[in-house]
Amino acid sequence: MDAALEVAELATLPEGKLRAVYPKGLPVLLVRSGAEVFALENRCAHMGCPLSGGSLEGYVLKCPCHDWRFDVRDGKFLDAPEIRLKTYPAEISNGRVYVRLA
Ligand code: FES
Repeated sequence: MDAALEVAELATLPEGKLRAVYPKGLPVLLVRSGAEVFALENRCAHMGCPLSGGSLEGYVLKCPCHDWRFDVRDGKFLDAPEIRLKTYPAEISNGRVYVRLA
């Protein structure tokens, strides 16, 4: 299993904001929801737009390009759950956020 990579300080992730990070050069989107942080690939399953330019309402992430909507908890496309974004396990430890890419 890949080691956890530090990607952000929790204090720099405001609730409801989207943040792009690039552990090992991979485009990853961080979403903070209360005490949890979700990590997903920052590339829309439709045509690849960066989702960090989208909007968030609750757990629903909307792509800025053609409004496809995904659940940030599991990456599922709301209109067809068999389509999903890749998700990565995210952990918080000592005020820092870590992501496992495996
Ligand atoms: S690229 Fe995201 S909805 Fe089209």
